[in-house]
Amino acid sequence: MSEIDYGQLRDEDYPITKKTIYMNNGAIAPTPLSTIKAMTDFMLTCAEGGPDSPSTFDYIISLLDELRTRIAHLINCDHDEVVLVQSTTEGLNMVMNGLDWKTGDAIVLRGGRHEHYSNYLPWVALSQKKGVQLKELAMTDENGYFDLAQLEKLIKGSQLITLSHVLYNTGAIMPVEEVGRIAQKNNLLFCVDAAQSAGTISVDVKKIGCHFMAFPGFKWLCGPTGIGVFYCSKKASEILEPLEIGGESATLSEQNIIAYLDMPARFQASFRNFPGAAGLEASLRYILRIGLERIRKKNMNVASILREEIAKIPAVKMYGPDDESKRSSIVTFMPQKADSSTLVRQLAQNRIILAARDTGGGKKAVRAAPHFFNSEEEASITASHIKDLLR
Ligand SMILES: Cc1ncc(COP(=O)(O)O)c(C=O)c1O
Repeated sequence: MSEIDYGQLRDEDYPITKKTIYMNNGAIAPTPLSTIKAMTDFMLTCAEGGPDSPSTFDYIISLLDELRTRIAHLINCDHDEVVLVQSTTEGLNMVMNGLDWKTGDAIVLRGGRHEHYSNYLPWVALSQKKGVQLKELAMTDENGYFDLAQLEKLIKGSQLITLSHVLYNTGAIMPVEEVGRIAQKNNLLFCVDAAQSAGTISVDVKKIGCHFMAFPGFKWLCGPTGIGVFYCSKKASEILEPLEIGGESATLSEQNIIAYLDMPARFQASFRNFPGAAGLEASLRYILRIGLERIRKKNMNVASILREEIAKIPAVKMYGPDDESKRSSIVTFMPQKADSSTLVRQLAQNRIILAARDTGGGKKAVRAAPHFFNSEEEASITASHIKDLLR
């Protein structure tokens, strides 16, 4: 595996690195300049050629085709199983609203104090609307793990398990492959929120064995906002009702019978976010050129320095598993004698951008989420500022 010149990459593609240490990539990552250029080129092509002229139409079709091919490569699915949506939340809501729930059906999930609200509130809404029972997994530690034996008990009489792949607060990687095997053995549907995994660790829907997955373009994939991915396996698409219908997703026969188009069009009523698609396609090209393996290695290098340095600061509690293979590059800590949101603001005044996030205990912790364009030096500088501010 040849080396990447990250210094050059930072200089040429990430102008933010000249002024700011930006480690809030678990919220929104900056796009590389090539993505901004791809979006601008797209808009210029539309402006010059006409946004709905035959030549632009062909260009858009081939762009969407390229985008789907790259996403299929990223998560190991078929091209037709990639539905373009706005966000993770939209994809998860499509599952929540599109399945045929009956009173007494049940869903197994992590509790709302441990799961991102986007993968919790839709299910609460469903339980309130349709009387579907929510069975919450008990947390066995502060990093958000649960007991697979308890899961096996809870799934009796349930229809679906929903889980984040990587937890947004502690960065813990969940045992999704084991859960997928349990779901398959018990004939349950499995839905995965990959908002914090796609683009930073390897994601393989076949190995995971999930039916549904959703993630945004704007976090670890470094794409623009307003475009995300909903993976729906071909098999699951047969039981998922599309929520919207229009000219792009269905036709009407002479006998007035509606026929949905094939996947993925059946879930894509109306035009998509084409400039966003151009941006996400360029970002995926960028990410896949570096390669997930290299990205993982680089991210963990920076994260390890950050983690080790912050752990030395007095009155700071670290989150995330000790075992590096069980966590993403998210580094979360609780300053026990200071307020996390205040610390995040003080760091921002020093041009260091982190985030404050819940950890389930009521008090927010500080989350750093370094990505491949962050440097080892930035990790040391960040830790040293945290130390000074907490002194
Ligand atoms: C685990 C997780 N799920 C869902 C979301 C929401 O993502 P989106 O804005 O794409 O709906 C986030 C955002 O931070 C997240 O971390």
